[in-house]
Amino acid sequence: MKARAKRSDATPAIEVRATPRHPLGMPPREFLRDYWQKRPLLVRGMFPGGVEAVAPDDLAGLACEEAALSRIVLRNEKRDQWTLRNGPFRERDFARLPKTHWTLLVQDVDKWDMDVAALLTRFAFIPGWRIDDVMVSYATDGGGVGEHVDQYDVFLVQGAGYRHWSIDAQRRAFAPAAFRDDSELKLLREFSPTHEWLLDPGDTLYLPPGVAHDGIALGECTTYSIGMRAPSRAELLFDFAEFLAEPLTEDDRYVDPDLAPAHDGGEIDDAALVRVRKALPHFANVEKSVLAHWFGRFITRYRSAQIAAMPGRGIGAAELQRRLPKCVVLRNPFSRFAWRRDGRGAELFVAGEALRCPTALARLLVAGREIDGGALTGLTANAQALATLKALLDGGHLQLTRPR
Ligand code: SIN
Ligand code: CO
Repeated sequence: MKARAKRSDATPAIEVRATPRHPLGMPPREFLRDYWQKRPLLVRGMFPGGVEAVAPDDLAGLACEEAALSRIVLRNEKRDQWTLRNGPFRERDFARLPKTHWTLLVQDVDKWDMDVAALLTRFAFIPGWRIDDVMVSYATDGGGVGEHVDQYDVFLVQGAGYRHWSIDAQRRAFAPAAFRDDSELKLLREFSPTHEWLLDPGDTLYLPPGVAHDGIALGECTTYSIGMRAPSRAELLFDFAEFLAEPLTEDDRYVDPDLAPAHDGGEIDDAALVRVRKALPHFANVEKSVLAHWFGRFITRYRSAQIAAMPGRGIGAAELQRRLPKCVVLRNPFSRFAWRRDGRGAELFVAGEALRCPTALARLLVAGREIDGGALTGLTANAQALATLKALLDGGHLQLTRPR
């Protein structure tokens, strides 16, 4: 019987050296267990002697192709300004570039160049379908793409030349407010590097998704980014739903042969939700409140032929309270209304929107297209009711009119 190596509790090293037997500095199984999707790793000498699979001139040539995805990022170091230019480029575009502080990046180079595609054999321990592409960048001295995060795992292979990399190995979550609004490049407002390295040709930096990083060229250099494909959960859900819907025929519909007489106008009751759930067996475990929240919004938007036009000016709360008793409130005929009991109050659905509102108001608004303002007046002492009425008037879903 073989003795199994004892797993150490110590944090795995962030920097290792490749060996001829283990280009990752360790067996792939160990890398996947300790680093993959978990923590960054710098592998010194993963590609001994560096990588020169594509020459800068050839990369520039590729960036002039209509079908290639290319961009140039220019950096104004003094002003901390970044400019993005999208390809395809013309030869003369390159002639006009400054001597330093710019980077050319071309995606999917592995699809065009067999030598670049060959780099992927080093990553054969990752399923091929999980790998997206090899992006190649050529940077002049001081060039980079700014401090940023990527949403996918990436192996940054230093091809030729040297690049200074800084990373923040501690933080992995960034709220939308963490990004600068002065550039299309989704740059970070703040960046506090925990590690800095100068990468030599052939060194490879692995970063899991969400690790902030910044690479600045020291002289001219090329970088090969092996990027993973990580569909967002939203993409998975949309595509799966489309896939499930594909074989369904037009006559396969929501049905309610057991319909009981409606009470309270347009209440979406539990029986309706049971039918919705039956129509969507793949989502049988979705919470009732989530299903109701979605269905109310969906069904009041469904087949709406027109969008309500907003009135020229909104109505003030005081004006609303003053005018309401003498008015008839008309519902926009194109705005569908429905409601659902929600705890002690209600959720009112109007043309795809959901508004919290007292049950009494929801009942009145949903029951008919013409509502006596006097009946609503008493309810406006409740701030939520007042806000709901105001929002619906301002949105053009309701209108105050004189009684006929
Ligand atoms: C580069 O190659 O310049 C940028 C790669 C990256 O940061 O993802
Ligand atoms: Co990046």
